This record gives sequence, C-alpha cells and structure tokens, in this order.
Amino acid sequence: MTRSLDDQALEILRANDRGGYTVPTARLYPYQWNWDSAFAALGFSFVDRDRAWAEIETLFDAQWPDGMVPHIIFRRNDPDYFPGPDIWQTNVDPPTSGHSQPPVASSIVYEMVERGDASDLARAHALLPKLIAYHRWFHTARDHQGTGVLGIVHPWESGRDNCPDWDLGMDRIEIADDLGPYQRRDIGHVDPAERPQPAQYDRYLTIIKFGRECGWNHAELARNGPFWMADPGIQFILMRADRDLLRLAQAVGETAAIPEIEAWIAHLEDGCQQLWNPDAGAFCAKDLRTGTFSPCLTNAAMLAHYAGAGTEGQRQRMAETARRVVDDVAFAFPSWDPRGSAFESRRYWRGPIWAVVNYMIQKGLAEHGETRLADRIKTDTLALIARSGFCEYFDPLTGDGLGGRDFTWTAAIHIALSSDATTARAA
Ligand code: DGY
Repeated sequence: MTRSLDDQALEILRANDRGGYTVPTARLYPYQWNWDSAFAALGFSFVDRDRAWAEIETLFDAQWPDGMVPHIIFRRNDPDYFPGPDIWQTNVDPPTSGHSQPPVASSIVYEMVERGDASDLARAHALLPKLIAYHRWFHTARDHQGTGVLGIVHPWESGRDNCPDWDLGMDRIEIADDLGPYQRRDIGHVDPAERPQPAQYDRYLTIIKFGRECGWNHAELARNGPFWMADPGIQFILMRADRDLLRLAQAVGETAAIPEIEAWIAHLEDGCQQLWNPDAGAFCAKDLRTGTFSPCLTNAAMLAHYAGAGTEGQRQRMAETARRVVDDVAFAFPSWDPRGSAFESRRYWRGPIWAVVNYMIQKGLAEHGETRLADRIKTDTLALIARSGFCEYFDPLTGDGLGGRDFTWTAAIHIALSSDATTARAA
C-alpha cells in the first residue's frame, strides 16, 4: 500500500522525536535547533496539539536568564556533530550554543492559537512572558544602538549559514591562529559540495572563540566581535513575530504588554528603510561595520511582504524582481539570485531552495494579494517534495534533493501546505 506524503511526513516527525523535542535529522543535526523546533511544532500542530506545545515548551525551557533562546540545545553529547558544547562553553544548563536564530516561535504559536481552542489559548498565555522576554532580548542585544536595524553576531544566527550575503563580513575576519586542528562532522554525512567551504568554518570558529573568551557577553560581541551584519531575514521575521506577539497579547487580554510591543514594531518599520539597497532595487543584507550592502536579492529579503516591511512601492518592486527570478529557475524560490556571480545551485544557502522560507514567503505574498507568485512558490515546494523526498534543501535548476534526508522541517511544511489552514488573511 502506498503511504500518502503526509503520512510519510508524520512518520519523519515521529522518527526524529527524541522525547519532547525533535532533531532536524538524525546524525547530521542530533540536537534541538531553535527555528527547526518551532517549525516541527507547526507540523505536529495539525495532528497532535499536545506534542506541538511540548516542542515549543522544551525550546523555551532552555531560554537564558537574559531572555535569549539559543540556536542549539545540546541535551546530550553526540560525537556526530561538530562544534559541540565543549567548543561553545556557554556554562548554562542545559548546555547550549551562544547566540540565537530566526525568532519564528511567536508566529508559530499564533498560528496554533488561530487554529485552536481555549486550551491552546491557555498554553499560549502561559508562554507569553517567555516570548516577550525573547523579543525584548532581540530588540536590545541585537539593536544596542537603538537604530531599528538588527545585527547578527554570527552567520549561523541568520540560519542562512553560508549565504553570499555574509561574504562581506566574513572576508574581513582574521582567522584566529590558535584554532588548532579540528574535524568537521557534517562532511562525513553530506557531500562536501553541498556544504560550506573550509575557509568559512575557520571563520565560524573564530567568532565562537571570541564569544567564548568574552563569556558570551552580547554587548561586547555586538560592539567589538569579528562579525556584525544586518540581515533582512532576521529583521523581517522579528517584525512579523512582533505583530503576531501583539495579536497574542490582545487575544489573552495582556494589555499591559501592548505599548512595548507596538513600539518595537514601529521601530523596526523605520529601520527597514536602512536595508533598502537602491542599486539592487531590493532589501539587502548590510555590513554594519562598513555600511556596505550585499548586492543581490535573497529568499530572506522576499519576506518583506510577510513582515509588512517597506512601502507599497518597495514591496511591488520586490515582487517584480521575484517574478524575474522565478522565470530564471525551474523551481522557486532560490536562496540567492541565479544571475548573481556567487550563485551555486547545490551549495546550502548559496542558491538552493528551503521549504521553510518558501512557506513564509508564500504566506506573506498571498496576504498582500500577490496570488500568482504565492501559488507558484507553494506549488513548487510541494512538487519538489513529491519529486525528491523530504530533503533539507533543493536545487532550483534541477529539483534534486540535497543535504540531509528525512528532514523534520521539510516534513512539517508539507503537512502545513497541504492542509487548508494556510489561507490568506489580511496582514
Ligand atoms: C550547522 O552545523 O551547519 C548548522 O547550520 C549551524 O547551526
């Protein structure tokens, strides 16, 4: 008997469940990752609400006292992954990495409440103080100068590890001369041609060394760390999450929280203008140490509609560029403009398609009436999974599945997209 793709997707979620939290995929990523876990909750929420809430709750159990939710939670030591807790040395319990990741949690909690009942609202209410503390951390630690533009301290914080967006900041990093020999584990699990290059790993570890040596002092990392760049992905995901947090606070009657959240939204709305690159006619990443823009459109910048960022004219311009990009590829939406010189269709975030980013892009486009573009991205996402399986990412030129297999968030997005619940609503 052939199992439906949604049945297979649910089997993947269950197989990657380690008891209250889900790993992105066995071996390659054997721990709990922040935004992977939030998307796992989204997938579970269509079939097992209690399990979905547990996923978010275990993620927030690892929240730092200052409000940060770290990007990896090392619940047990696993030699299949490098760099593990001994390299990060964050001295927290459970051990974690030292920076965060795209803060999608509030948006996913809001989706669960929208489709849920009173018991979902009660669980969201219980989480609300932790969600607010997480957003407050982002708005202070990652905008320490109050400019309305969020910085990231490590490319891994963007979740888009080796995107050409980060080449500007990475090229300026002087590699620490005492990193010592180290052995990457990722390239034992996945073809190295689909993973970041060795020179990038040296720089990733140089930033971790700086963080470790300053005791993961976030003010110091932002002011003097080796890397400090603005990411339209983080900016737009937090903007959307702030709006969803506001809706949550209103839904549970937490009116005291509302003015602070409204101020955050207004501040980020203003800050977005500093990410508009007139040469590219698009929102772009920017090196905050030099003011230099990254040159090309990315899938993360295509979250402008999802965030409600920019003017209507800017969003229309983004949609026009997106139509051109979509015509350049067999499947949408690539993580780097295929006409950009750094484009590599198979290498991680330098070209491949990511189902979770597609999910957010199509949702935002549909909400803003860009129906044809939204439908193309949704249809392509489902077609890629039907053709190549539940892979970590996909080649936009051939549709080949790449990276890890039986991937949690790809399975979760299949469940979400194939349900009727992703109907457009006004932003
Ligand atoms: C990795 O190890 O490749 C991860 O993306 C870091 O978060």
